Amino acid sequence: MTDSTHTPATLQNGAPAVSDRNSLSLGTNGPLLLHDVHLVETLAHFNRERVPERNPHAKGAGAFGVFETTEDVSRYTKAALFQKGAKTEMLARFSTVAGEQGSPDTWRDVRGFALKFYTSEGNYDIVGNNTPVFFVRDPMKFPHFIRSQKRMPHTGLRDSTMQWDFWTANPESAHQVTYLMGERGLPATWRHMNGYGSHTYMWINAEGEKFWVKYHFKSDQGVESMSNEEAERLAGTDAEYHRRDLFDAIERGEFPSWTLHVQVMPYADAKNYRFNPFDLTKVWPHADYPLIKVGKMTLNRNPENFFAEIEQAAFAPSNLVPGIGVSPDKMLLGRVFAYADAQRARIGTNYFQLPVNRPKVKVNSYTFDGNMAFEHTGKAPVYAPNSFGRPFADETGPVEDGWEADGEMVRSAYSLHAEDDDFSQPGTLVREVFDDAQRDRFVETVAGALASVQEPVLSRAFEYWKNVDATIGERIERATKEARAK
Ligand code: HEM
Repeated sequence: MTDSTHTPATLQNGAPAVSDRNSLSLGTNGPLLLHDVHLVETLAHFNRERVPERNPHAKGAGAFGVFETTEDVSRYTKAALFQKGAKTEMLARFSTVAGEQGSPDTWRDVRGFALKFYTSEGNYDIVGNNTPVFFVRDPMKFPHFIRSQKRMPHTGLRDSTMQWDFWTANPESAHQVTYLMGERGLPATWRHMNGYGSHTYMWINAEGEKFWVKYHFKSDQGVESMSNEEAERLAGTDAEYHRRDLFDAIERGEFPSWTLHVQVMPYADAKNYRFNPFDLTKVWPHADYPLIKVGKMTLNRNPENFFAEIEQAAFAPSNLVPGIGVSPDKMLLGRVFAYADAQRARIGTNYFQLPVNRPKVKVNSYTFDGNMAFEHTGKAPVYAPNSFGRPFADETGPVEDGWEADGEMVRSAYSLHAEDDDFSQPGTLVREVFDDAQRDRFVETVAGALASVQEPVLSRAFEYWKNVDATIGERIERATKEARAK
């Protein structure tokens, strides 16, 4: 870090700066001079201060902390960070999905729950949300989904007809939209929400045995939400309400924590489980796969610099370590490509060399040069294999985190398992998880969200909710029509 406390002001080349307050002019009131290097450097660098915001998840903030594995889960994974007693430094970033950098924290939205663990085997990231499912199950649909939630091409405004047009034309979204319109869509604070890996991942133990896992981070502060009225009020008065809450809590020494549990499915169960366990729009009932405790994450240190440590943080599902792999979830496979590519574009080719993204372990990768290369390997060979002693990797044969697949190449939805459908799980959520008061607020929220939706999308939205649950659908239709008649 630059020594900004004891070093007299300098130019970027380290030479003394003459004035940070007055530019060089010809006479007191005269024209400015182009050879005022200090002014030119200041204005030019200012023009380049921002990097593009994340698309999506632009608005967020985060903090550093530690993850401690408190239980023995070594029969499921050999990953060093998940061995009992291991303590791993980490970074978390929470965010909204659709809003831009300047948007209010309290707009109704899914919240991002992105974690980076600086493990002794390399960086491991879990880039999840505060809900256990997602809107779509094929990565081809993701950019269309995000655009439908952002802004109209001509007005530059967000538009509820566009949002509902996408959701109702993609009925697999029903489960996530039910969560979104319920209390998860407006967490009281980031400290009061759970986090989920959402996807199914693979764990591999020291014997090479494979398991399918889902991550659940349960808030030790409890789960609390905010009313529509409070969220709206805050959106107008304090656009950084959630960001401030996390920062202030940590400054006060109130360190928020989450207990990690996993659901573990034996590898062989996946094939004939009653629904597709790799479908991101579904949860695994706890009755089938109960929660197994793993450890605790505690956030205990605020960033010293928001831009350097949060804006430039690069979380990616492709950051994996031995003992953990991905799964046949098509969304996850799409994400394994998308994030690092976004970060090369958003931050720069060598974003991995920045302190917040740099692994704590030694790196010896055969990637070289590029914009802003800082680390280098001197005169060491730049190719493999080489005869001059630079190690290179050379494994062949089956991979330990692989799975079996064959067949011709097709473009197709997943093949259906016995109980696969789009509406059963959201129906269960509405009927069995929500209580009466939550159901009332849910109807009110959906009716409010449908208030300005145009036909034919509006009728399709009523149908969508009737498919989730006939009674709820009828209540939503009635409430929406009443609201529109006013
Ligand atoms: C195929 C589907 C998806 C694609 C292509 C995708 C793509 C992206 C991209 C490009 C970013 C910006 C990354 C950056 O600039 O640093 C992002 C951010 C994010 N995504 Fe996704 N995403 C997908 C699905 C999901 C899902 C299913 C989840 C949660 C389970 C998720 C959670 C997040 C989070 C939390 C962030 C913000 C990370 C941070 O705090 O920096 N995304 N996504």
